[in-house]
Amino acid sequence: MARPDRNVFVCAQQRPPGHPRGCCAAVGGQAVLQAFWKEQQARQAYEQVGITYSGCLGPCDGGVNVLVFPDSVLYQRVKPEDVPEIFEKHLIGGEVVARLAASGGTW
Ligand code: FES
Repeated sequence: MARPDRNVFVCAQQRPPGHPRGCCAAVGGQAVLQAFWKEQQARQAYEQVGITYSGCLGPCDGGVNVLVFPDSVLYQRVKPEDVPEIFEKHLIGGEVVARLAASGGTW
C-alpha cells in the first residue's frame, strides 16, 4: 500500500447525552466520515488520501472536527455537504478551505 499524500482524521467521538463537552458524534460525525469515504470511493483516491475515524481531537464545541495531515489544518463545524469542497480544493489541490479552517487560537 502506498503512503497517502494526505491523511484525514474525522472525529466520531461519542459521549453520553448531557455530557458537558458534548461530542462530534452528536453533531454528525458519522455522516461526515461517510461523506469522506464516499468521496474517496467516487474519485478512486485511495493512494492519495487516507481517511480514518478518530476519537476526540480537543475542541469539541467546534465539531464536527476534521484534521488534515501533514498540513496540520483543523476544519471545524464540518457538514457532509462541505466534504466535496475539502476533497477537491485541499486534499487533491493543496489549497486550504479558509472558511472552515480553525483560527490560530483554536489550533
Ligand atoms: S468530541 Fe470531537 S473534538 Fe472532542
